[in-house]
Amino acid sequence: MSTTDNSILGLKMPTDPRWKDLASVSLQEILTDHAFCEQKAATNCITLIQRNPDKEEIVNVLAPIVTEEWGHFRMVWAEMKKRGFKLGKQRKNDYVNLLLQNEPKDLPNEDKLLHKLMIGAMIEARSCERFRLLSEGLEEAGLRKFYHKFMISEAGHYRLFIDLAERYYPVEKVRATWQQWLDIEAHVLSMLVPRGDRMH
Ligand SMILES: [Fe+2]
Ligand SMILES: [Fe+2]
Repeated sequence: MSTTDNSILGLKMPTDPRWKDLASVSLQEILTDHAFCEQKAATNCITLIQRNPDKEEIVNVLAPIVTEEWGHFRMVWAEMKKRGFKLGKQRKNDYVNLLLQNEPKDLPNEDKLLHKLMIGAMIEARSCERFRLLSEGLEEAGLRKFYHKFMISEAGHYRLFIDLAERYYPVEKVRATWQQWLDIEAHVLSMLVPRGDRMH
């Protein structure tokens, strides 16, 4: 079993299999969305550093991830240019917006970081699952290899967010909160229609 199987990532709802086929017919659109997702991953790490300057491990661990996610953006952009695609406009990310809307309200201040780390881990886990579908299901070998690299990298980031949470919170609390987020995410996903022009 690979480390990117849903059973390892814990995801409660598998992606609708139609999604990969939709994505493969709108490659330019999916690459545009992917490019902006990578930018958001970088800015999310910057925001976590800005909000937690007193937590040295957060700064140490996330600073290189900012560089890595920005590198991912550049990889996607390079692939787009190779194909003569334009970057296109940033879209509303319904998946992430719904996750944020479902964040438990009135959290005590000391738990806010835990939930932000869980949301980060969640988006990485789902992205990893989606990249796996593309890396296994697309016709073009070059693209399968391209998405395989992202799958591996985002699986590592999912683990990194969980590990960071366990550094600052008791393991049992992290596990319980992660389970809570797995349920929230399954609910969010059930509200979204699969679209070939969106990573999520
Ligand atoms: Fe990334
Ligand atoms: Fe990532």
